[in-house]
Amino acid sequence: MLSIQNVKLQFGSLPVLDNVCYCFHKNQVYTLSGGNGAGKTTLFNVISGFLKPNSGDILFQNRNITKLPPYRINRIGIGRTFQDLRLAMHLTAIENVLLASSHKMFEHYTEEHLEKAHHILNRVSLEDKANACAGEISYGQQKLLTLACLLANNAELLLIDEPVAGIDKSNLMKIVDLVSELKAEGKTIIQIEHHPDYIVATNDVLIKMENGKIIC
Ligand SMILES: Nc1ncnc2c1ncn2[C@@H]1O[C@H](COP(=O)(O)OP(=O)(O)OP(=O)(O)O)[C@@H](O)[C@H]1O
Ligand SMILES: [Mg+2]
Repeated sequence: MLSIQNVKLQFGSLPVLDNVCYCFHKNQVYTLSGGNGAGKTTLFNVISGFLKPNSGDILFQNRNITKLPPYRINRIGIGRTFQDLRLAMHLTAIENVLLASSHKMFEHYTEEHLEKAHHILNRVSLEDKANACAGEISYGQQKLLTLACLLANNAELLLIDEPVAGIDKSNLMKIVDLVSELKAEGKTIIQIEHHPDYIVATNDVLIKMENGKIIC
């Protein structure tokens, strides 16, 4: 489904992705692990088009996406969350979900859109925060809201950066269930995570990164 071919990226003289090669298959849950600075988030940035590699190619469903801008990569089916959230903090939770569900920023939304957005907030246990400003809910709730936005975007391949960081145990179990449901719906998931119990409960294939390389 997603093929990373000889991808190299340097920041100045620092090699951050060092000839990364990997094939991700449909309907599996992959977990990227590895220490701080290993290059995990950078790999997400390259797959989703936010950073361009110095060399190498990325193929999604046999199409070369290496040079496409992020919005086009998203439209062809790759969605992501951000380690640093990137919510519209001055908008409400439901407005963030509506925004993520549409390609047109100022499109008028219908009752059906609104109903779907409430359903998604319910799936991540944020129904009671629908009308709260994203900037005013807790960090854990903001993390859940990034997952709601990802669901609203309805991509096939989901890149999830540290979904359970800052999440309490009961919500962690909900995210375990959510990831299982997404897999049952046929989605492919690549997640970055360090939490051992969460990894055991969700993972199919564990990938280790070190110094910009995939080592197993
Ligand atoms: N925009 C940037 N400019 C310069 N260096 C960067 C940039 N983004 C990342 N780096 C560097 O690239 C390396 C890999 O960073 P990356 O964020 O991919 O690590 P990570 O594996 O996600 O780590 P963490 O577990 O801490 O999130 C680090 O040395 C980081 O400082
Ligand atoms: Mg990171």
